[in-house]
Amino acid sequence: MSTTFTVDSATSRATPVSAPMKRLTIPAIRRAKGGTPLVMLTAYTVRTAQLLDPHCDLLLVGDSLGQVVYGLPSTVPVTLEMMAAHGAAVVRGSHHAVVIIDMPFGSYEASPEHAFASASRLLKETGAAGVKMEGGEAMAPQVRFLSERGVPVMGHVGLTPQAVNILGGYGARGRTQEEASRIIDDAHAVSGAGAFSIVVEGVVETIAAEITRMIDVPTIGIGASATCDGQVLVTEDMLGLFERTPRFVKRYGDMAGQISTAVEAYADEVRSRAFPGADQVYAPKS
Ligand code: KIV
Repeated sequence: MSTTFTVDSATSRATPVSAPMKRLTIPAIRRAKGGTPLVMLTAYTVRTAQLLDPHCDLLLVGDSLGQVVYGLPSTVPVTLEMMAAHGAAVVRGSHHAVVIIDMPFGSYEASPEHAFASASRLLKETGAAGVKMEGGEAMAPQVRFLSERGVPVMGHVGLTPQAVNILGGYGARGRTQEEASRIIDDAHAVSGAGAFSIVVEGVVETIAAEITRMIDVPTIGIGASATCDGQVLVTEDMLGLFERTPRFVKRYGDMAGQISTAVEAYADEVRSRAFPGADQVYAPKS
């Protein structure tokens, strides 16, 4: 199935759709270093993108969709096809935020050329502005290769969930001096290779603070303290869709509770024949 989209920028001759807010650009995100913190949330669907877009600087089509949308045990089984389909939906649902798509496990690690083939496919099929790639020093050649060929790359260091089979879990990283130094070196390597921004996930505050101080592109933290240049959360986590709330998440809503209450009311009304009522029934033309 093709996920081909139509560009909604004011400059598109094919579909000159009016854009009430101009879409932010990668250079604008870079310039936000050290300024007002950047706001990023995950989005996987068109409607969520529409709701988040006015409030966010960046929308991340995270490979966390593997767990959140598909019920997979980790992000490892997520495919390029899934990312392309959801990425296209999020671009269609937004006109303000920069849309970044995660490169799924297996689509970039083998070589810079493989990474370019995967990333260019994602950008062509979705219209997203850039990709995110997990990994530090080992992925620096990929980051450089893509950045020098027109693909903006957001790095991702610290806790890298695609490496769960090596890490053995999702615990915070950098609690030993040796691991802390490695994460800081990773951030240097990825920013030095041309990443326009770096997600720093699940690290102790001092590491996030040092990385943010040392590199000249914005850091986006998740479980990495307010010292970062911006923050990202999985939207469904912060909206309270799941029972479990990880330590680094703050719940800003009770989506699970609201859905349960609404569905319980619907089920009761269907069973008692209170729904559909007179307002929901078609009448013959008079
Ligand atoms: O996949 C994802 O949602 C992410 C964020 C949590 C940073 O990578």
